[in-house]
Parts: sequence; C-alpha cells; structure tokens
Amino acid sequence: MVFQTGSQRYHVLKQIDLDVFHGDVHLLMGPSGSGKTTLLSILGGILTPTSGTVKILGQDITTLSRQKLSRFRRQHIGFIFQGFNLFPALTAADNVKVAMKLKGIKPHLWDKTAQTLLGHVGLGDKVDHYPHDLSGGQKQRVAIARALVGHPPIIMADEPTAALDSHSGHAVISLLRNLAKEGASTVLMVTHDPRIKDVADRIAYLEDGMLNDH
Ligand SMILES: Nc1ncnc2c1ncn2[C@@H]1O[C@H](COP(=O)(O)OP(=O)(O)O)[C@@H](O)[C@H]1O
Ligand SMILES: [Mg+2]
Repeated sequence: MVFQTGSQRYHVLKQIDLDVFHGDVHLLMGPSGSGKTTLLSILGGILTPTSGTVKILGQDITTLSRQKLSRFRRQHIGFIFQGFNLFPALTAADNVKVAMKLKGIKPHLWDKTAQTLLGHVGLGDKVDHYPHDLSGGQKQRVAIARALVGHPPIIMADEPTAALDSHSGHAVISLLRNLAKEGASTVLMVTHDPRIKDVADRIAYLEDGMLNDH
C-alpha cells in the first residue's frame, strides 16, 4: 500500500502475505503507525491496495465493483471499531436495528433480534439504555452486538479494547473468543494489548509495514 500526499509517497505496507483461517482468532499486533489499521481496512475491503490481492471466502475482493464490494462486506463481515461509533441519540436496541435495516433484515424481526443479540453480549437488561448511560465496556458490547447482525462469518475489530479498563477489556475479548469458538466465526483483531495474546490462535506482527507471522 502506497499513500500519496502531494509529492510525498508513503510506502505503508510491503510484501504482505497473510493467511487467516476459518474459526481462528487471529491477532494483528505491532507498534503505533506500523500499518495495522491500514492492513485491516484493506482486508475488510474498506481500502483498495495499490497492488496485490485479497481473497475472502474464495472471492478476490480487489476486483469487485464498489457496489458489489459493499454488498460483499454487508453479507460477510462485521466491523467493530475502536471508538464504538454508536449513535448517541439512539438506544442500544435502536443502534443494533440500524445495522439490521442496512442488512435488509425484515422490520418485523428487528425487536426480537435486537433483544437476542444484546442478550448474547450480556446486555439483555440494557436494550432501552442510551449510550451515555452505559459504561465503556457496555458500549463496546453494543458495538459487538451490532457487528453480529446477520451472523457474518468474519468479524474484524480494530483495537476493540483500547478505550476500556482491564476488566471490561478482558470481558470483551472473551466474548469475541467465545463467538469465534461457538459460532465458528473468524475473528481478525488489531490490538497492542499484550493481555489478549493468550486467547489468540495466531498472531501476526507488523513492524514498519512488514509482517512477521508467528
Ligand atoms: N490516508 C493516509 N494518507 C497518508 N498516510 C497514511 C494514511 N493512512 C495512514 N497513513 C500512514 O500510514 C502509517 C500506518 O498507519 P496506520 O495503519 O493507521 O497504523 P497503525 O494502525 O498501526 O497505528 C502511518 O505512518 C500513517 O501516518
Ligand atoms: Mg490503528
């Protein structure tokens, strides 16, 4: 991946070769600025690489049209971002329903599905709460429930515990791990939280845009 800003070229990712296996919790670690978010964005089809290919579930996503790519993302990938990205004026349930609308889930299923998904992340009694009435860990769990809408086979998370204290951080990580193991989802997670290493099946280290697979 090369970023061009004015006359400057930044070669941010070099010779990346990474396999992520079905059902694994795969971590992407490395210092700040090493290219983790850029790589996750490319793997999730949010950024198009300058060269190279990304194959997900047998599909080369780098050759898809914008429209097909966005449909592919909606169907197969759930994203969890660092800053929760919840709508402050919507309840936990309504935040989850926004994703259902986007994914084309029939409106008569919204209430029940939101309740089920929020129950799944331990927030069954918080469906009518607004984000400002939830702790950081609870907000992140709403974001996880939202990413689980439609049961995407792949979950991508960019530093999901960065804003959390160690207790809620660990709760969020165990939740993601259980999802991977019980739901046979694949979890690809960016982190520089060393506590998370013990729940990972695989860890890839990025440094200066280069990958060391362990
Ligand atoms: N849109 C962009 N234009 C130019 N440089 C960028 C852009 N996005 C990221 N970078 C640069 O790429 C490098 C890697 O960034 P990033 O992937 O966000 O790292 P990390 O997530 O590991 O902290 C950084 O040096 C950053 O400044
Ligand atoms: Mg980042």
